[in-house]
Amino acid sequence: MTALLEMRGIGKSFPGVRALNRVDLRIEQGEIHAICGENGAGKSTLMKVLSGVYPHGSYEGDIVYEGRTMAFKGIRDSEAEGIIIIHQELALVPLLSIAENIFLGNEVAKSGIINWPLAFQKTEELLAKVGLKEAPGTPVEKLGVGKQQLVEIAKALAKHVKLLILDEPTAALQENDSQKLLDLMLELKAQGVTSIIISHKLNEIRRVADRVTVIRDGSTVSTLNRDEVTEERIIRDMVGRDMENRYPHREPQIGEMLMEVKGWNVGHADQPRQMIKDCSFNVRRGEIVGIAGLMGSGRTELAMSLFGRSYGRFQSGEATIEGKPADLSTVSRAIDAGLAYVTEDRKVLGLILDEPITRNVTLANLAGVASGWVLGKGREHSVAEDYRKALKIRTPGVHQRVVNLSGGNQQKVVLSKWLFTDPQVLILDEPTRGIDVGAKYEIYAIMNDLAAQGRGIVMISSEMPELLGMCDRIFVMNEGKIVGELSRQEASQERIMSLIIRDGNENGEKAA
Ligand SMILES: Nc1ncnc2c1ncn2[C@@H]1O[C@H](COP(=O)(O)OP(=O)(O)OP(=O)(O)O)[C@@H](O)[C@H]1O
Ligand SMILES: [Mg+2]
Repeated sequence: MTALLEMRGIGKSFPGVRALNRVDLRIEQGEIHAICGENGAGKSTLMKVLSGVYPHGSYEGDIVYEGRTMAFKGIRDSEAEGIIIIHQELALVPLLSIAENIFLGNEVAKSGIINWPLAFQKTEELLAKVGLKEAPGTPVEKLGVGKQQLVEIAKALAKHVKLLILDEPTAALQENDSQKLLDLMLELKAQGVTSIIISHKLNEIRRVADRVTVIRDGSTVSTLNRDEVTEERIIRDMVGRDMENRYPHREPQIGEMLMEVKGWNVGHADQPRQMIKDCSFNVRRGEIVGIAGLMGSGRTELAMSLFGRSYGRFQSGEATIEGKPADLSTVSRAIDAGLAYVTEDRKVLGLILDEPITRNVTLANLAGVASGWVLGKGREHSVAEDYRKALKIRTPGVHQRVVNLSGGNQQKVVLSKWLFTDPQVLILDEPTRGIDVGAKYEIYAIMNDLAAQGRGIVMISSEMPELLGMCDRIFVMNEGKIVGELSRQEASQERIMSLIIRDGNENGEKAA
């Protein structure tokens, strides 16, 4: 095999952080190569070096591509060579159409003017290639994450891609959308496209990758061939030791009823449609309760409508915490009532990216660090420092702006922020999305600790193994309704799916 790309001895520093120390990476022509490593190991940084986001001169080492040494000054230079990166955070413009997103800035135009009829026609061809049945004029904001991801790939294909880089493409995707995307990668491979995929989902890597390079603390640890790739081996190389269990041991100590929700009904904010239909569920002290369901089943909407009516139009329903009616009508009242909601979308609702860790942690409970009218800076610092240690947030210091943290470490900051409000009931919405196996274990351990302190945990997750591994009971949602409740003993992937499918058939409706 011939190498399409070699990155040799790559080093990259940020103020106070040595993000890449000595990375070697060799990509063969035509392969799918996976890059694995813990949160903060340097995966995204390496790909930003490769694609010219960090220009030549700002890193050490060499990039040799198709036998030539490259000195990209920016992303346009790498794109001209057919190296296309799809970043961890999607970069489409929500209000623009699919066609506009694909072709703006992509000069199909002669003399700077885009020929839109042609662009629409090309968009149709590209959408057919990626298997997306949407009109080119559809605004991107109308599409779910899975479809947006496909638009990103269509956009890459419009640029004559030779090396496609996908940074955690399936982190936000539901199982079936992930499968579609992986199938597409295999199809592109059959057409001769070389790909690099970064993912924390090791089963997906096993499925598509020809080889895997593992990075730890900014250095290459190993490159594994397909026959050497097992989840255990990847994990061992990632964390530097064997990991025997994915879920920490716990002896559930389940106490009295803590929070009860009855007959919860919520309408769409500006359409005459009911989104949450007569939902009832509860959580006891010391209990971890799961909510399973497909994308669009209403899990997040249910949680957000409870937490200060942050979603939709409240219609009716009762919520009690510790046996007393709970006033959840605004976010601050919900917090006072003892509820916290850790959002799945840390970029939109969870964090102020330009602010330091200190401010983000204390944001939801400024009273907790204020003395009189003055915000205690020292107190803020020590609070953030406590959480940094407890949750093992990887950062040079708590003054670091959150935007500079890796994805997994940002998630830990979100968690810290809500823990600092000292909630009785904590609703965690996809708490381990984009989190590496080691840090997942740490987050599970934190959840177990919180439960052991007598709090109630409600976990929304699309990863069924995680729900099955962590929860004492699981509620199953479909189309805005709770369609079943399973005890730990009863719960299995098959039973959850059969509850969802049975409900769909009874209603004669199809899932969104
Ligand atoms: N612009 C920046 N300024 C300062 N530090 C940065 C910057 N970008 C990344 N870092 C740091 O460099 C290290 C590597 O980050 P990187 O984003 O490459 O990790 P990653 O392997 O992609 O992690 P994840 O799995 O969480 O996405 C981290 O310690 C991160 O905090
Ligand atoms: Mg990353």
